[in-house]
Amino acid sequence: MNTQDIIDTAKALVADDKGLLAMDESNPTCNKRFAALGIPQNEEARRAYREMIVDTPGLGESISGVILFDETILQQKKDGTPFVKALNDAGIIPGIKVDLGAKEMAGHPGEKITEGLDGLRDRLTEYFKMGARFAKWRAVIVIGEGIPSRGCIDANAHALARYASLCQEAGLAPIVEPEVLMDGVHTLEQCCEVTENVLRTVFNQLYLQRVILEGIILKPNMVLPGLSCPEQESVDEIADATVNCLMQAVPAAVPGIAFLSGGQSGELASTRLNAMNVRFKSRMPWALAFSFARAIQQPALEIWQGKEINVPKAQQALYHRTKCNQAARRGEYNTGLEKHIYDNTVYKHHK
Ligand code: G3H
Repeated sequence: MNTQDIIDTAKALVADDKGLLAMDESNPTCNKRFAALGIPQNEEARRAYREMIVDTPGLGESISGVILFDETILQQKKDGTPFVKALNDAGIIPGIKVDLGAKEMAGHPGEKITEGLDGLRDRLTEYFKMGARFAKWRAVIVIGEGIPSRGCIDANAHALARYASLCQEAGLAPIVEPEVLMDGVHTLEQCCEVTENVLRTVFNQLYLQRVILEGIILKPNMVLPGLSCPEQESVDEIADATVNCLMQAVPAAVPGIAFLSGGQSGELASTRLNAMNVRFKSRMPWALAFSFARAIQQPALEIWQGKEINVPKAQQALYHRTKCNQAARRGEYNTGLEKHIYDNTVYKHHK
């Protein structure tokens, strides 16, 4: 492995106020989102949707890296251009989701463990040859009655660290994603406590597995009250709780933290990220960025509807969300920006 290359990749993923676009939904998840909008659920529809995303004019202005799925990494645009080449041409680093999903954890009702370590070394070598330069592994932690358990947190943190170590051996920068889910009635304080506990455990395991922290990106949840919690704190309270929690648990050697959106609306995710950067940017040791799937894709998916004629408008909506999130990284986002959708045809004109 070339350590400097991995460190350079991790740094590049959070450089220039850019962030990541996750389009690594597994086939069942992608199909579920298509089904909700009446879009056909087959390989060609998934390919066409991903082509619409990859081909968005100006995407590279605010997106540093795109996370692909196994089916997608070898796919091509209609004109035969491989997605990986299209991304590289746009100045975007291709990445790949490599976990095999969160499954029910034996002996731990209601909890999940992420699978995929067996054979991972060989799969990573193949993905590197296909052009991936970073990878992603997601662990899922549920807050509920008596959970998360120590056993679940430890097992998931250990798997994340084993994955991250294998990635660096293969020359890939690992995105380490321990997601504490938003579902539930838990309070902001409970989410903060669980998130800090999970992150401390993850970083302890990363240390034990000799992972170079300068060569990773952490992809955590924002610290939020459960979706069904009666008390929903303000944007500033959430920004404070999230950054204070991260300050306790994330070493300064980590170059960047790129949040998942977890089901928040695009506007809310941008608003909360913006508040964190407004209030703390000058004091944080790491860049605070985004690695959203739904909070970037959802409006575009709803416009696209599986129809080629809708591609330009869908791309405009996608481009708009990426620019809003770049503004949030700078602490320059406000909901007024939502009124005038960034127009990527204007961008093309001025390029
Ligand atoms: O693993 C989850 C995705 O990479 C992020 O998805 O932003 O919709 O939570 P999300």
